[in-house]
Amino acid sequence: MITKQKGTNDIYGDEAKIRLYVNDILAAICEKYNFTYIETPVFEASELFHRGVGETTDMVQKETYDFKDRGDRDITLRPEGTAGVVRWFIENKLYGNLTDPVKVYYNMKMYRYERPQSGRMREFTQWGYECFGTDDVLADAEVISLAYNAYRLLGLDNVTIKLNSLGDTESRVAYRNALIDYFKPHIDELCEDCKQRLEKNPLRILDCKVDADNELMKNAPKTLDYLNEESKTRFEKLKDLLDMMDINYEVDTKLVRGLDYYNHTVFEVVLNNSYALGGGGRYNGLVETLGGPSVPGVGFAMGYDRTILAMKEEGVNVPINNSIDLYMLYISDSEKETAAYLAQDLRLQGFIVETDLMQKSLKAQFKSVDRFNAKYLIVLNDEELKENKITLKDTVTKEEHQMNINDLGDYLYMNAK
Ligand code: HAM
Repeated sequence: MITKQKGTNDIYGDEAKIRLYVNDILAAICEKYNFTYIETPVFEASELFHRGVGETTDMVQKETYDFKDRGDRDITLRPEGTAGVVRWFIENKLYGNLTDPVKVYYNMKMYRYERPQSGRMREFTQWGYECFGTDDVLADAEVISLAYNAYRLLGLDNVTIKLNSLGDTESRVAYRNALIDYFKPHIDELCEDCKQRLEKNPLRILDCKVDADNELMKNAPKTLDYLNEESKTRFEKLKDLLDMMDINYEVDTKLVRGLDYYNHTVFEVVLNNSYALGGGGRYNGLVETLGGPSVPGVGFAMGYDRTILAMKEEGVNVPINNSIDLYMLYISDSEKETAAYLAQDLRLQGFIVETDLMQKSLKAQFKSVDRFNAKYLIVLNDEELKENKITLKDTVTKEEHQMNINDLGDYLYMNAK
């Protein structure tokens, strides 16, 4: 038997219905913030992620699905959405004449070769959004508020935003030097990867999974102590705006995020201090790094699978429809045409209608009525049909109504919903 690949999932049944429900809520709230929908390709040139996400990140070093295609090109399955959206932004020259920010959202599968466990998959979905063209701190606040409100609309009322600032380039350089000074004397205590990271990218030591519990990490320098005045003022402004918007946040000085492109604002969404349900931040240098002009950006991505798990764990009540409006049974082939005609007509009117497609006995058809949890049933029979009549039965009250076949739609409209 060929089985599914490790770290992938088939999505079906109630799980699929929950996803459709979540999709609708997320799409609706994005539209309220005036973000428009975008899809980018599943695979891109490897260089996009190597340059964009960062050569020394765990993601690029250990987690990407890289391969050569038949034309000998280096290809990577996207591990995250931001780099692809930035590529789209540059390729379509959307930076010319920017009088308003470019705001897009996506809902896409991502691929990371990680050790699978609950909430960590190799194929997973991110709902995310990016805003280009403004460095205004109000844009950061809006991006955070959209994430916060989305989780709450999904019924996760207790989420907290963990917030930190990495500062501007000058602050980051100061912080980088402080990290090198701090870790250098102890470098032998750290893993081989961290030894490499020390000179290349010391920030990445802080999110090393191997050394996470090392005592050294606890007392490591904090970004906020190395912010210059401008970056500090910016961070204070952001916190004021979040206070105004009544957003539940906590400053987490340890938060640095695992991707290289961030500056200033970084944030994650957590529930009960467990793993991150989503994360994002500002990336003012990324468009330039990927070959465009200097255009600021800020965005966020929700871990869709983790969010749905959290909704289940928190007992969020998702309105799942597990019933249909009408099941039409028929006795013989001669009633089949009427079944086809009525099903077509009623479905176009918006009703969920099912009829027998497997030439089942009447008894077996009645079992389907129960299995589909039909609100009404009709046993189509030639005798009634000759007079243009049908008898509709309410499966709960058992009440029966005989009516003209042409009145069925109106009756269901008044009673079924
Ligand atoms: P990220 O923190 O790498 O950020 O991923 C965002 C979220 O995706 C995580 O918080 C987590 O919930 C979910 N996630 C990550 N890896 C997995 C996995 N293996 N299985 C299930 N869920 C996972 C980014 O990807 C950035 N592009 C976010 C961003 C957008 N920043 C600015 N704009």
